[in-house]
Amino acid sequence: MENRVSAIMTPSKLCPVAQPFLTLEVFSQAMLRVVFPCKISVFLAFGLAAALPAQQPAQQQTPPAALEIEMDRAVAKVSPTLYGLMTEEINYSYDGGLYAELVRNRTFHDSNWDLPAWSLVQQGTAVAHMQLDKSTGPSASLPLSLRIRIETADANNRAGVENAGFWGFPVRPRTAYRASFYAKANNDSMGPVSVTLRDDNTGEEVAAGVVPSLSTGWRRYEVTLATGDVQVSAANHLVLTLQHPGTLWIDLLSLFPPTYNNRPNGNRIDLMEKLAAMTPKFLRFPGGNYLEGDHIWERYQWKKTIGPLVDRPTHPSPWHYHSSDGMGLLEFLDWCEDLHMQPVLAVYAGYSMAQEHVDPGPKLDPYVQDALDEIEYVTGDMSTHWGAERAKDGHPEPFPLTFVEIGNEDWFDRSGSYDGRYAQFYTAIKKRYPQLQLIATAPVKTVKPDVIDDHFYKRPEEFFDDTHHYDKTDRNGPKIFVGEWATREGVPTPDFGAALGDAAWMTGMERNSDIVIMASYAPLFVNVNPGGLQWDTDLIGYNTLTSYGSPSYYAQLLFSNHLGDEVLPSNLTGGGPRLFYSVTRNKSRGLVLLKLVNADSVPQTINIKLSGGDAVQSTCKLFSLSAKTVAETNTISEPQKIAPTETTLTNVATLFRHILPPYSIHVLEIEMK
Ligand code: AHR
Repeated sequence: MENRVSAIMTPSKLCPVAQPFLTLEVFSQAMLRVVFPCKISVFLAFGLAAALPAQQPAQQQTPPAALEIEMDRAVAKVSPTLYGLMTEEINYSYDGGLYAELVRNRTFHDSNWDLPAWSLVQQGTAVAHMQLDKSTGPSASLPLSLRIRIETADANNRAGVENAGFWGFPVRPRTAYRASFYAKANNDSMGPVSVTLRDDNTGEEVAAGVVPSLSTGWRRYEVTLATGDVQVSAANHLVLTLQHPGTLWIDLLSLFPPTYNNRPNGNRIDLMEKLAAMTPKFLRFPGGNYLEGDHIWERYQWKKTIGPLVDRPTHPSPWHYHSSDGMGLLEFLDWCEDLHMQPVLAVYAGYSMAQEHVDPGPKLDPYVQDALDEIEYVTGDMSTHWGAERAKDGHPEPFPLTFVEIGNEDWFDRSGSYDGRYAQFYTAIKKRYPQLQLIATAPVKTVKPDVIDDHFYKRPEEFFDDTHHYDKTDRNGPKIFVGEWATREGVPTPDFGAALGDAAWMTGMERNSDIVIMASYAPLFVNVNPGGLQWDTDLIGYNTLTSYGSPSYYAQLLFSNHLGDEVLPSNLTGGGPRLFYSVTRNKSRGLVLLKLVNADSVPQTINIKLSGGDAVQSTCKLFSLSAKTVAETNTISEPQKIAPTETTLTNVATLFRHILPPYSIHVLEIEMK
């Protein structure tokens, strides 16, 4: 397993654990109102409220904290693109994941010596053979196929092949599945071909379709398989059978369920909905290591991922399984469009992970040209060569593009060639597209990058200790893109301890989001079926039928969906070492958005003073995420064990006390009057 741990460069209800303190809270508020009715007493009140020793609960161990927030002025702008997504083919993220294709190894490229996921079907007295045939295929890109030679078969004794899918096929009632395949037969009376979804346990047919006849030349066939009132189940397989002897070649056998926005060749609906809930502002693609490949020839070659599927040759990926390239460049862009995200396009920059690189200079020119072509495919109008290709592929409108990333984690390149490589890409891209912001993946000297991509994979404690990472970063230097980050604790998905590490880290990024303009957690996805994982810890888990968000997913949801556009001046004193916060304001909505993280095992009292504004509403929305232990987590069978709750705080004032339960993340949406 590639494991680059990089501490680099540089339902409305009260949270049960909070309830014991409610009385205290109300009591201390009442005390404050009685004793200190006016603003001149505020500082005294603040100090006294913090003291209140007789009212401290017995288990209170951390000192109370005092948090002062100035509501009427901002110290920095919050980046409008702060929270986004990073994605690559890892952990069966696309094939067997977001990309809704259900047939595994549809072009027979998954192995050089056998046929994973495929097996021969010989019902009753039927006799047949199957073999990989490297001499014929439906296109120059797919020059091989599966040959099925049927010696004996009839209507009651059928022969053919079946596919096991990605850990089965998800069958749902009253659902239409679109099947298609390329085929040729050695005689024109081999048909009909029956395509069925069958129950693994009973062998019963759950949906069926028929292609009446086959031609002797390569052709594409389509058929719809519709289920009736069947049970929801993943234990199914796809079967293609015939009733006449002869030889048949097949390739690109595909089956799609309904997809998000009904896109042909589109994405799995539940996963897209989970992403949409995060309101991500950008998508960084296609990697990650997946961009680089282990070897130069295994790099992500975008030109081989566009156009009809039959013209995509597929490629080996660095995460130890073959990529169908069904999720190609245009599909990434469609994904952006569907979720209103801007693309952050990573272009291959001449370095692959087995320490292979292309020297800057003439040898690198074709790679630079490839990147220029790629940018043209994304942004060019139909008068440009690659813009016209994109239109031919089904998307006449250019896509918006601001950020282009040159490579991935190029600090791993021990040859030291990145400086020269980056400069060559930078010069060529800026010359043609001066408006683009170019991201460097390692420090460079020759030219000043617009943005630097920093990656952090850390333990919770390391993130707790590093929340001030960007406080002193030079504001005149490149902007920062935290292109990959995660608290690594929990397999396959993060536990609550990791979510606390994440939340603490996010407070630091928000506070510094004048310089930290973008951030994306990685990896995004994991198929939790056996053998699905190459990298722990991953944000969203799924199997063949369902998906779930980890506690870290919900922490991100809270942070991303409650973010202002300005950072407010604030000062925290006291409190334990595991207390973190961020405060932003949405001026037009008149909201102060206060995020508080208590990563400690004991409650944390905070006396909050809001100055500089006239007043605030006495109630506010409180969004909370908490757990009894750091080891608590969500799983595929317990997907909502830890999930945000929304309640109302009724004690809000320009001076009020708030108690954070142990292991909790709170977001307060305070309304200014
Ligand atoms: O996110 C997993 C991997 O970590 C990425 O592919 C790579 O960029 C980093 O090393």
